[in-house]
Amino acid sequence: MAEHGPMARKSLADLTRGSEADRDGLAKTLGPWSITALGIGAIIGAGIFVLTGTAAARYAGPAIMLSFALGGVACAFVGLCYAELAAMVPVSGSSYAYTYATLGEIFAWIVGWDLILEYAAGAATVAVGWSGYAASLLGGFGVAVPPRFAAAPGTAVTLADGSHATALLDLPAALVVLALTALLVLGTRESARFNNVMVAVKLAVVALFVGFGAFAIDPAHWQPFLPANDGGFGHFGWSGVLRGASVVFFAFIGFDAVSTAAQEAANPQRDMPIGILGSLVACTLLYVAVAAVLTGLVPFADLDVADPIARGVDAIGRAWLSWPVKAGALAGLTTVMLVLLYGQGRIFCAMAKDGLLPPAFGRIHPRFGTPVMSQLLIGAVVAAVAALVPIGLLGEMVSIGTLLAFALVCGAVIRLRATDPDRPRPFRCPAVPLLPGLGILSCLVLMAGLPALTWLRLVVWLAIGLVVYASYGRHHATLGRDAPGR
Ligand code: ALA
Repeated sequence: MAEHGPMARKSLADLTRGSEADRDGLAKTLGPWSITALGIGAIIGAGIFVLTGTAAARYAGPAIMLSFALGGVACAFVGLCYAELAAMVPVSGSSYAYTYATLGEIFAWIVGWDLILEYAAGAATVAVGWSGYAASLLGGFGVAVPPRFAAAPGTAVTLADGSHATALLDLPAALVVLALTALLVLGTRESARFNNVMVAVKLAVVALFVGFGAFAIDPAHWQPFLPANDGGFGHFGWSGVLRGASVVFFAFIGFDAVSTAAQEAANPQRDMPIGILGSLVACTLLYVAVAAVLTGLVPFADLDVADPIARGVDAIGRAWLSWPVKAGALAGLTTVMLVLLYGQGRIFCAMAKDGLLPPAFGRIHPRFGTPVMSQLLIGAVVAAVAALVPIGLLGEMVSIGTLLAFALVCGAVIRLRATDPDRPRPFRCPAVPLLPGLGILSCLVLMAGLPALTWLRLVVWLAIGLVVYASYGRHHATLGRDAPGR
């Protein structure tokens, strides 16, 4: 093993020591319920409230239920791996930190860079979904958001007078990101409290939708359950179920964000597995239920809209349900953004402490106890991206980037069992290497379901990352060096 340089690996002792030091700076305020709520807060969002409709209408039909089940199984494999690592190495930085200890610095950098796609681009994607529901809710109260300022540049919109125009920017999406950034700067405890309330609201709304919707289902809408493939890969049939799973995989992203809170957990060894697996199981069950009800209420071909759940509510025929469901969707999307922005801040913090990013990103504000500089930069960039990039492109980039990181985490579990077999593992992933192997395989299969252009964009993004590493991180990494001020 090289002492320093691209192939240098951190020892697990290094990681844990770092965590003890950090634990003095970051406040340890999160218990198991807060952590599970953090997970559910991160998971249920644009995936179920927005992408379910698109994926059912374009790719899978009612069989979108199977796509969700497929996504849930893949995430369960990965979740077991995350739970083992998060309990064993309770440090901020998630898969980035684990990779540093297993595959070495260059891979850790790649994962850290790749995670920007999951967290920052993920937050931007959800912000765009938020903007769609906000416009729909305000419209219901007679307040019209000017369409040209509520969609990505170039999107065709219909103005109040019925004429057509192209949008300039998505202002509500940018504003909500900036507001949440302010909250995150002020403190983790405040953000977690706000998050708990919002999670309760969003779960209540999903339960209302499933509860009332179940009695209004017309089973004829489930026929055909698996519409015949129309000739192209991913357009219905079994390949459509696969592409549907790759798209709605976005809906599961976030269970891993729980691991970024490990240092702020009161008892990480017990709480991390509970938080990760508990939130994942709860969400998978809810998703399959929502998908079944939604496709039973509305013919799947009509679901390709910005607010498909609202469309489902209309079909239930209880007008009063409409605004609470839209408001609940907004609450749901808000918590997802909050956790993703939070997670991105903590990952930058961890990378800065390792010297791969400038030290300012790792500085914890003495009064707020938060990484203010990281959080502000992330907020500004995510707001700009949310204002300017369309949701479809963003969502696919998030999925492919996340799947790559997940596959590497599964690899890390296999490798650590070999290189450090005796280290205490408060939670052990069963059947290693079979289960992590299945995790890697499922991630690759879901990646294969995404379009070639998305793959190309991923390669370009990673290439840019390597240039940044070669110009900065390579020379500033603190591992194996006597770094003043470390
Ligand atoms: N899982 C999150 C969502 O669906 C990212 O919005």
